[in-house]
Amino acid sequence: MKSYEDAVASIDNSLKLLELGYIDLMLIHSPKPWAEYGEEDRHFDGNKEAWRALEDAYKAGKLRAIGVSNFQQTDIENILAGGTVKPMVNQVLAHISNTPFELIDYCKQNNILVEAYSPIAHGELMKNKEVVKMAEKYDVSVPQLAIHYCLELGLLPLPKTANPKNMKNNADVDFEISADDMKILKNIEQIKDYGEASNFPVFWTK
Ligand SMILES: NC(=O)c1ccc[n+]([C@@H]2O[C@H](COP(=O)([O-])OP(=O)(O)OC[C@H]3O[C@@H](n4cnc5c(N)ncnc54)[C@H](OP(=O)(O)O)[C@@H]3O)[C@@H](O)[C@H]2O)c1
Repeated sequence: MKSYEDAVASIDNSLKLLELGYIDLMLIHSPKPWAEYGEEDRHFDGNKEAWRALEDAYKAGKLRAIGVSNFQQTDIENILAGGTVKPMVNQVLAHISNTPFELIDYCKQNNILVEAYSPIAHGELMKNKEVVKMAEKYDVSVPQLAIHYCLELGLLPLPKTANPKNMKNNADVDFEISADDMKILKNIEQIKDYGEASNFPVFWTK
């Protein structure tokens, strides 16, 4: 059960652990407890309470920006209804073959920056023949194509790599994808097998 008091304690504990006077950005990780992602209960009351704690910490200067993650439109509407500060960020799963276009439009209309997590589909996009072919056409790596696709949609991609060479490659995305090819990429059939990441709660459906 999410509560105002727990959220305040969690924010203050993060500041203490990091030994910082303020944190640049803090998010509510998920509208539902992560292990209950497939459950129907959207925890509307708890999210309002957790958001109030983030708002207070933001107003007190402890947090420079506040936002949410894995929030659908209905979850955002819930906190907008009683809130005094709009979420600045919604961090969601978004990559070629699995892009939540309607949610992105809604966030844009509300000036909420959409951060695209797992923009390379946990690396699984590198196994997709159509995507590989498109990357070859532009003479870029699949991660570069996938990252640029997100930028083209106005998202902030958050690729992860433990390899400095890949990190450099991922930052080198100064090329254009034609409108026709963006259309193709937007319509690529959704990846069904996320490999080792398949048991990730966000992929569970009920
Ligand atoms: N808010 C949330 O609920 C949530 C959920 C999931 C993830 N995230 C965040 O999203 C970020 C990334 O997500 P992710 O790790 O799930 O997936 P990802 O960034 O889509 O994929 C990471 C995989 O791609 C590989 N890779 C990256 N760049 C590469 C390159 N240039 N060439 C070859 N392989 C490359 C990495 O391997 P190497 O390390 O070998 O390069 C790793 O196996 C993380 O910061 C994570 O914390 C947030």
